[in-house]
Amino acid sequence: MATTLPHLGFSSDYERFERATEGLEAPFALVDLDAMWANSDDMLRRAAGKPIRVASKSVRSRPILERILAHDPGYRGLLTYTLPESLWLAEHGFDDLVLAYPTADRTAIAELARLTEERPAAAPVLMTDSPAHLDLIEAAAGPGSHPIRVAIELDVNWWALGGRVKIGPKRSAIRTPQQAVEFAREILRRPRLKLAGLMAYEGHIAGLGDRPPGKRLQGRVIEWMQHRSAAEIAERRGAVVSAIAELADLEFVNGGGTGSLQGTAAEPAVTELAAGSGFFAPTLFDTYSAFKLRPAAMFAMPVVRKPSASIATVLGGGYLASGPGEPSRVPSPHLPGGLRLDRFEGAGEVQTPVIGEAARRLSIGDRVYFRHTKAGELCERFDSLHLVSGDAVVDEVPTYRGEGRNFL
Ligand SMILES: Cc1ncc(COP(=O)(O)O)c(C=O)c1O
Repeated sequence: MATTLPHLGFSSDYERFERATEGLEAPFALVDLDAMWANSDDMLRRAAGKPIRVASKSVRSRPILERILAHDPGYRGLLTYTLPESLWLAEHGFDDLVLAYPTADRTAIAELARLTEERPAAAPVLMTDSPAHLDLIEAAAGPGSHPIRVAIELDVNWWALGGRVKIGPKRSAIRTPQQAVEFAREILRRPRLKLAGLMAYEGHIAGLGDRPPGKRLQGRVIEWMQHRSAAEIAERRGAVVSAIAELADLEFVNGGGTGSLQGTAAEPAVTELAAGSGFFAPTLFDTYSAFKLRPAAMFAMPVVRKPSASIATVLGGGYLASGPGEPSRVPSPHLPGGLRLDRFEGAGEVQTPVIGEAARRLSIGDRVYFRHTKAGELCERFDSLHLVSGDAVVDEVPTYRGEGRNFL
């Protein structure tokens, strides 16, 4: 059993987690509920009364999703990431599901069509941005008496220099009110489909901090770009929603993410927000000037070697995050404070050396707590999350992986 409580000089959170988890064998993952609910308060405050649809990809644990939805009426429904996941969640009693990414899974669409016949209200909404999506959905769904609900995704990237520079995730090709109206008409022409909503995700604001460490100038450029882009989006999103409203009633207009709640909430055309990462607060969200979240999810790895007095080497640890292959995707040693990765070895498959002043005080059998760059991906590495409150583990809940589910 690892216990480092006598190691004076470590931060109090380190001691708190060590006390809470002294009966556990590392590696393990934990969620600090006190931090998670504090983050939740901050997100609800920034949402300013607009409901938040919880992004399931950034949580990937059914019991945690249930707890979040039960925690506050400000959370409404889930923004899911694959159709098999959405159907699995529906089977387990979740409703009000919007699948945020297009699907080409014909088998799952056929299953969705069956669910739509049985429980039309529980059937997830599919995301679309092209007539090819609509063709595929219609063909896979086959005949039926209840239409499949679909939503339109709108592109809200920042275009500069007359569209020669495009900043933001490459998602939908539907950008102008005219294009959105044309596509809405295309949906309305098809009796097998029903237009349920609109989604527009400004990832270059919601997932990009404006205070990158050590890059002051870049931070100012990001801040400027995000400011300009948000103003342009507010105008265009409003125009698109008014134009579509002439044709059909939309059940929802979804926008935003953890990093953009406060700005997107202020847009009258947006009826609901989305957020997920903010609960666990991975390192990607440390670099925003507009808010501060508390690190809530982490993983503990055991020190298994001391190659020298100033280095402690933990088992495993190389849980890289998706995205561009760059240093920010590597996990960060969090506790005890004052540790860093070795520049040449990074975070490895079977071992990760950590260096820095605190490494001198770490002995074999002690633990190092790391934070992931992203939120939900951590859950693909662990079967369960140990829930800590104060200095005690109060529960252990399965991740999707722990339930034998891997959707992406
Ligand atoms: C469509 C959509 N909305 C919202 C989000 C925001 O999620 P999070 O708050 O977890 O960053 C994402 C994340 O990628 C997304 O794809």
